[in-house]
Amino acid sequence: MISIIGAGKIGSSAAFNILGRRISDVVLIDVVENLAQGEALDMMQAAPAIEFDGKIEGTSSYSEMRSSELVILTAGLARQPGMSRLDLINKNAAIVKSIVKEVVRYAPDCKLMVVTNPVDVITYVAFKESGFERNRVFGMGNILDTLRFRSYIAMKLGVSREDIRALVIGEHGDSMVPLVNYASVSGIPITDLLKREQIQKIVNLTRTSGSDVIKLKGSTVYAPAAVIAIMADAVLRGRNRVMGVSTYLQGEYGFSDVSIGVPCVLGKNGVERILELKLDLETKKEFEKSAAVVKDAIDKIKEA
Ligand code: LAC
Repeated sequence: MISIIGAGKIGSSAAFNILGRRISDVVLIDVVENLAQGEALDMMQAAPAIEFDGKIEGTSSYSEMRSSELVILTAGLARQPGMSRLDLINKNAAIVKSIVKEVVRYAPDCKLMVVTNPVDVITYVAFKESGFERNRVFGMGNILDTLRFRSYIAMKLGVSREDIRALVIGEHGDSMVPLVNYASVSGIPITDLLKREQIQKIVNLTRTSGSDVIKLKGSTVYAPAAVIAIMADAVLRGRNRVMGVSTYLQGEYGFSDVSIGVPCVLGKNGVERILELKLDLETKKEFEKSAAVVKDAIDKIKEA
């Protein structure tokens, strides 16, 4: 069973994606009275159309997450237009700390996926607060950046998005590092197909893609929700999928005591393995800058 905490746009849409892909029963939890109940009722009525026979429950009671295999944390304040993910930091850290206490109480064996922004920092906070092994607490960020990177590459080349393979690492934020040298179209490096300036444009678009949507409609919904379902599928079905996941580093990539996006194998136990790439000098510098941004933010929380 999967529990999703936070029945806002992303949480409820993620629930519907998970049901639609028939990954698991879902318990949707929100402290706002009736919100999760209403969302669940609406989804239950759609269930025959998506041929889902499982359970969808909405509640404001944390105890309903009891014995969840995966808990997905989407609760928190959302980014407003013009607001950076880091602006959210202290408020969401406090909210998440109190929720993680409930997670530990009711689902002590779960894997905990963090979606609340700024996701790398909040993943760190959740990891520390939970006392769980590090493989069990991870954040959704880079795979969303990767989806956007893939979409823009496909659009530029006029080819199927399905054939684009790519990877983004680092902070899920302005300092993210799209790995140009690892991006390919059915194995053909994009550097063979696109000019340097064209690629730079795509990289820039990828970096601003979340904010671009927020500027237009106030929040992102479909892309993060779809990605949550992909990650939930990897964990619930033990698929060992390879993707950028925010995880707590203990020496990997030269960093410790920070949660940040790196390529991971995601499976039954959460982060099964971290894949360490040999980055070229320029990329390494970019990753280091990105890690410094996250570390700074973590330090600010510690001071607060
Ligand atoms: C985004 C938010 C979820 O990038 O961080 O869409």
